Amino acid sequence: MKKILLLATLALLATTSQAGPGEDRQKAFKQVLRSFEPMGVMLRGSGYRKDVFIKHADALKAVAAAPFSQFKPGTIDDVSRAKPAIWSEPAKWKAEQDKFLLAVDQLQKTARGDDLAAIRRDYGVVAASCKACHDSFRGPMR
Ligand code: HEC
Repeated sequence: MKKILLLATLALLATTSQAGPGEDRQKAFKQVLRSFEPMGVMLRGSGYRKDVFIKHADALKAVAAAPFSQFKPGTIDDVSRAKPAIWSEPAKWKAEQDKFLLAVDQLQKTARGDDLAAIRRDYGVVAASCKACHDSFRGPMR
């Protein structure tokens, strides 16, 4: 009986200790990708539908800020791709977030109009902001 309890406790520890800050952040960013990607697919192909696009733009807005509250100092673990520059260049890090969140707001507004060229442009601004931040603050895949 004692042995079974011990095994059960160990199994519980193994499952609860797996998720760390790196993994949590990556999950939060994958939520971001989940709405961002289908918008890109729509704009590149022929399947653009205004109502669906608006839903994705709204969903993006709802999750866009979430990852950024999860960058406590000292949280580069063995899955994290975060670069130390996040903490050594806080002003630049903050500026990239602000740029991104503004671009997401703008896309949400533009999505409600009928100017597809403007929607493409504002989607591109968001995409450029993802890339700019990744270039400075995300390291290689581990
Ligand atoms: C202000 C900076 C910043 C912005 C803006 C940003 N990211 Fe990231 N992103 C990061 C950092 C840093 C990580 C690494 C987190 C970690 O591993 O601890 C990351 C991780 C990710 C991941 C997790 C998986 C992986 O390969 O690392 C995905 C997916 C992702 N970002 C997609 C996006 C998309 C899509 C956008 C734009 C719609 C975006 N990000 C905007 C900084 C940013």
